[in-house]
Amino acid sequence: MTTHSLEALRAQAAAIVRDNDRGAYTVPTKGLYPFQWNWDSCLTALGQRHSDERRAFLEIETLFAHQWPDGMVPHIVFHTPDDSYFPGPEVWRTGRPTPTSGITQPPVAGLVLRRLVETAADRALAEEKARLLLPKIAAWHRWFHAMRDPAGSGLVAILHPWESGRDNSIDWDEALARVPTDGVEPYVRRDTQHVDPAERPRKVEYDRYLWLVQRFRSLGWDNRVLHDASPFRVVDPAINAILVRSEEDIAHLARRFGETELAAEAEARAARARAAFDSLWSPDLGQYLPFDRVAGQLVTSPSVGGLLPLLAGLGDEGKRIAMRDRIRTLRSRVRRGVPTHDPADPRFEAKRYWRGPCWLIINYLLADGLDRCGFPEDAAAVRADSLALVENGFAEYYDPLTGEGLGGGNFTWTAAIVIETLATSAAA
Ligand code: GLC
Repeated sequence: MTTHSLEALRAQAAAIVRDNDRGAYTVPTKGLYPFQWNWDSCLTALGQRHSDERRAFLEIETLFAHQWPDGMVPHIVFHTPDDSYFPGPEVWRTGRPTPTSGITQPPVAGLVLRRLVETAADRALAEEKARLLLPKIAAWHRWFHAMRDPAGSGLVAILHPWESGRDNSIDWDEALARVPTDGVEPYVRRDTQHVDPAERPRKVEYDRYLWLVQRFRSLGWDNRVLHDASPFRVVDPAINAILVRSEEDIAHLARRFGETELAAEAEARAARARAAFDSLWSPDLGQYLPFDRVAGQLVTSPSVGGLLPLLAGLGDEGKRIAMRDRIRTLRSRVRRGVPTHDPADPRFEAKRYWRGPCWLIINYLLADGLDRCGFPEDAAAVRADSLALVENGFAEYYDPLTGEGLGGGNFTWTAAIVIETLATSAAA
């Protein structure tokens, strides 16, 4: 692409982020997702920082203003009523002053915060903001370990597929199949009114998603009991890798600010998780796998979730090379990468949400991990795929076989990642 067209792309991306800006938070896209989503907001801040650092911090501050007293940061904050989304606050009924959902999402806030601080033009502002956010992020990480790893294995479980952020990934099929559907209250989905049902999760999955929500609601959203009461408890390598990385990033910032206690605590949690990670490795597949805590076994699902541990530099050199090679293989099987599931697996679906399509936020995290692990050329190739994909619009996700944009349009985090990727590539 010429410098001129790159500049045009950056301007388009910035306009999308601005257009979805609601003042103190940004909606993922109009219509389909009219509220604030947890990891969307944090990753959006990476794009916002290029035009307004104060606004980027505000995105995260708004999210943490709705942190639960127990430390959880909810996956959705329902700032204003809007019935174009289901399930809304009347289904969750979490009893929070501003309604929120009752589950969480991948904890990217810590890794984003370090990036905001280290790239800040206004260092004083960044330090002031970071000092206030650090204890809140640490409380969330502490919550993960206390509530989602009550037996102290070192790794945390998700209790609902939506907590992974990769809602209908093949990773969850087996565990989700054990979730009952009896007693699910009648409901009308709204997502399939905005987007082609062939690109969304199926009804059978949706019923089970809602059964879990009803179950947790019936237990008063008391996180002290939800883990053991949930028939769905899966250790996701992706969320655990993100947690390790964020722990180490907040520890790094805390040391810099002289907050040694907070730093030591985060480092200790990260070290325990690192030590436990080997239990998720599959030598046959050359990647990490989810562990089904209810069935007591690894889930054979070659998805991108098991490659995200690169982000935290997990594994020895052999494992990191194996993960790099897996990314090369995945890319070689499609027109544009990185597919979220291996196309060689018969369960792969090129257009259905998290069962194959490319997502730019995943590419961003993978490229970051590849760089960190000493594979800059692979990182550059993944970033180039991202920039090629947005030539087909700032879509929610993309068909890896054709490059076609799918799902919601004018999508905030896709645009934010483009802004960040252009800046990173220019700096390289
Ligand atoms: C979908 C995605 C999730 C995202 C949300 C808002 O639920 O699976 O990762 O946070 O949409 O964009």
